[in-house]
Formats: sequence, structure tokens, C-alpha cells
Amino acid sequence: MNILDIITKKKNGKNLSYDELKFVFNGYLNKEIPDYQMSALLMAITINGMSMSETLSLTDIFIRSGEVYDLTKVMDYVVDKHSTGGVGDSTTLIIGPMCASLGLHLAKMSGRGLGLTGGTIDKVESIPGFNVNITEEEFFTQVNNLGFALSSQTANLVPLDKAIYALRDVTGTTESIPLIASSIMSKKIAAGADNILIDIKVGSGALIKNYADAEKLSEWLISIGEAYKRNVRTIISDMDTPLSYAIGNSLEVCEAINVLHGKRCPLYTSCIEIVANLLSMAKNMDISEAEVRAEQVIKNGEALKKFYEFVSAQNGRLKELEVAKTIVPVRANRGGIITKIDALGAAKLAAKLGASKMHLDDEIDYTVGLMLNVKVGDTINKDDVILNIYMNKPVQFSQKDFDFIGIE
Ligand code: URA
Repeated sequence: MNILDIITKKKNGKNLSYDELKFVFNGYLNKEIPDYQMSALLMAITINGMSMSETLSLTDIFIRSGEVYDLTKVMDYVVDKHSTGGVGDSTTLIIGPMCASLGLHLAKMSGRGLGLTGGTIDKVESIPGFNVNITEEEFFTQVNNLGFALSSQTANLVPLDKAIYALRDVTGTTESIPLIASSIMSKKIAAGADNILIDIKVGSGALIKNYADAEKLSEWLISIGEAYKRNVRTIISDMDTPLSYAIGNSLEVCEAINVLHGKRCPLYTSCIEIVANLLSMAKNMDISEAEVRAEQVIKNGEALKKFYEFVSAQNGRLKELEVAKTIVPVRANRGGIITKIDALGAAKLAAKLGASKMHLDDEIDYTVGLMLNVKVGDTINKDDVILNIYMNKPVQFSQKDFDFIGIE
């Protein structure tokens, strides 16, 4: 087989066989295919697409590149969820304890954020002592006993996706639907759950920018799930506006605790929807009954109690959680109605403060970020505080940094 012939075939819009895909992708993982040739093929795939049969082949090649777990052999009601990435999205920290309170098992392997979307692992690492590198045995024992554990994605889980995702990130090939579908589903299938909910984020702060693409991705995720006999549901949610008022790692942990205390906000609504879907899939329950049950574990404090148990099981010292001491209020330069809060703009401001990594070797400041005081539709007066900035290092601001909030 010849790499040039394979790149040319895809460049001409032809379908690749399982063996051709395996030759290139496994060759890349084994360092036999260089970055530039892999990048050329990824670009040809991004432009010309892949058939469902090619996508199933690629998913299979991804899965076989690492370890595969089957949790359903050792526990009941195994669920998993994945978000395609957003701003202010601390959902996992809320839905994990909720699922555990409802008798579900969630073994969550999460990633770090790169670029502007935050990763769950970075958020929990803002809690002093929190251990995301627990052993495989500790991880599964905790899921069995407590119902929820969180670990940093091991190198053994779909290593091929890790390598390819890093290359896609720097070659303008992140938005290909077949590549996204095989990347997500290979990890979910290898992680071993049989009930999977995928939250597809759409909007300025997300990888997927429009609803048509989100619907197409949804169809592909479900079809791959069917091929592997997994119960897959998707929800499509807005990411034009940040999901919560907090953007920044320790601020988002505080916000997750507020939601577990019952604070009503879009993040609360989103978590109820996700947990209700997981419960209804796993326990074959009517969705409206599942919604009532999901709200109950917030109201009766069980989910909050599970959250504290989960943090201390992974050695986190929540009492030592810190937010930056310098708080700078930002006031409205005019009165009116809040017409937009752009997620991408909010994430850029948080990044400027040091809340996320722009390059792999950057250090994250877990304590900095923004706390929004307003939501779209609010009426405000001139000089009202529209957000508070939590900062440590000196930062030069300009009006442009705050244009993500529209007032008319
Ligand atoms: N999330 C993933 O895991 N992979 C993608 O390709 C996109 C979002």
C-alpha cells in the first residue's frame, strides 16, 4: 500500500477501504507516517467527507488502538456522557453526583481544555489535593461503591484519537463531522458504558457553529452507537451564550456547588435534561418521571452530599478552594437591555486573565475568571455592575474586551 495513492484517492472524493484507513492511521500512531502526510489526508477527509462505512471503519481502528473496558459485566446501570465542549460548562461535576444518587454508575474519563473551551480535569484540579490520576483499580472501585469517579483520560484509552486530535487542532481539521463522530464514539465505546448521552454544543463558543451540522453529527453518533449495540441519545444545546455565570476553573466549581444547592440557571436546566435522559435510558423510565426524579436529588440534598463524598474520595480539600483576591467590577457604559453575551468573547477574556491554556506548556491560574452579573434579556441602568473580574496578574483591558456583552 502506498500513502500517496491513499491521499490522492481521498482528494478525488473516493471511499477508502478498512485496510487503507488502517494502514495510514496505525502507521501514524507507530510513527511510520509523518505529520505532513497525515495532515494532508485529514484535510482531504475534511473537504470531501467520509461515508458511514468509512466512519465505522475508522471508529473501529480507533477503538482497537488501546484498551477496551466492558463495565456492564461488573456493574448495573452504567451511563456515560460527553459534551462536544463549551464555555462555562461544569456539567460533569453536577451530573456525576446526581447520577450516583439515582443508582446509576458513571465512570467518567475526562480531558483537559485546550484553546478556549475548558476541560473538566482543569476544573477539579482547582480543588487543592484533588487526584485525577487514580489507579484503574481505585477508579472502578470508587464507581462501584460511590456511583461516580473522575479520572484523567488514560494514555491507554484510544491513544490514536489523542494523537490525531492534537494534529487536527493545529491543521484546521477539527470541524469534520465524520472525524468528530469517530473521535467521540471510539472513546465512549472503549470506556465501556451501554447508555450514552452526547451533548452537542452549537454556537460561537462551540466547535459546531450551526444547527444543520449538529443534526447531522447527531445522526452519525446514533448510527455508530447502533452498530456497537449501545443506547445513544443526543441533545443539541446553545453555546452562543456561556452555560453559566462563572467562567474560570475554581469559579465554575463554586457555580457547580450552587447548582447542587438548587440555584436555577441554564446550567441547572441542562443538567436536569442530561440526567433525566441517562436515567430514562438506563432504567427504561418515562422521560417526564425521570425529570422529576432528577430534580428530587437536588431538592433533597442527596446530590450535594454525593458531591462532597466524591471530592473527598479523590483527596480534594474543598475548604481550601480559592478564588483570586483582586475583584474588579465592570460597569455598564450605558443603560438598556442585554442583547447578547457572546461565549467566545467571554472565553477570550477569561483566557487573557490566565484561566485557560493557549499553548500546551502554558500554566493555568485556577483562581481567575469572570462572574457574570447579567443574562440576555435583563434590563440594566448605566453604571450597573455587569460582571466581576477575578484576577491576579496585571492585565491591560480595552473596551473591545467587553464588547462580548451587547447592550441596546
Ligand atoms: N470532542 C471529541 O472528543 N472529539 C472531537 O473530535 C470533537 C469533540
